[in-house]
Amino acid sequence: MTTLLIATSNPGKVAELAAMLEGLNCRVIGFADLPETPAIVEETGLTFAENALLKAEHYHRLTGLPALADDSGLEVDALDGRPGVYSARYGGDQLSSAEQIHLLLGEMKDVPDHQRTARFVCNIALLGDGLNQMFEGRCEGLIAHEPRGDHGFGYDPIFIDAELGRTFAELTREEKAPRSHRGIALFQARQFLAEWLKSFPS
Ligand code: IMP
Repeated sequence: MTTLLIATSNPGKVAELAAMLEGLNCRVIGFADLPETPAIVEETGLTFAENALLKAEHYHRLTGLPALADDSGLEVDALDGRPGVYSARYGGDQLSSAEQIHLLLGEMKDVPDHQRTARFVCNIALLGDGLNQMFEGRCEGLIAHEPRGDHGFGYDPIFIDAELGRTFAELTREEKAPRSHRGIALFQARQFLAEWLKSFPS
């Protein structure tokens, strides 16, 4: 059976991605299943796609396994697309999610409702021998004036889903998963993998 490496050091993400790939004709593993944890690659790309590819390439080269890597973040129009690829490190590595939200809301304090448009973007790269695919998921919304909701992580409490009118943190995990940027990109990756894996013995 083909083995697919989820190329991220974040155990929560491995679990989430592995759950969404369940039922495919492959064994899904994370770094925890490798004999040695590979060194983390620096995310030096200027786009989500560049970073996803950089990670997938690095870990495929290290392990020889087909690798799936993602990169994601929040683009706010009134901030010229920031925090973008710097979403995780916005304001410096030491800031908590609550502090990053505080920083972002401060920068947005004079921005009127109709200019508070934003989107979550996720790019997924799949790289292996004879395998080189990119997928993208986007979710459009608005930046709230204050945090709302207790679910999720990161910028979820201030991202209002354009269709539902609720922040991502007000959605249950089941409600968020299929409509999130990551869910949309991963659904495409799953469809692709299902076809690709047909050429391998089970
Ligand atoms: P990465 O894709 O793991 O590099 O994550 C980038 C950063 O973007 C995260 O640390 C969060 O700050 C933010 N982010 C990405 N996806 C989400 C999401 O679904 N909700 C909230 N924040 C997110």
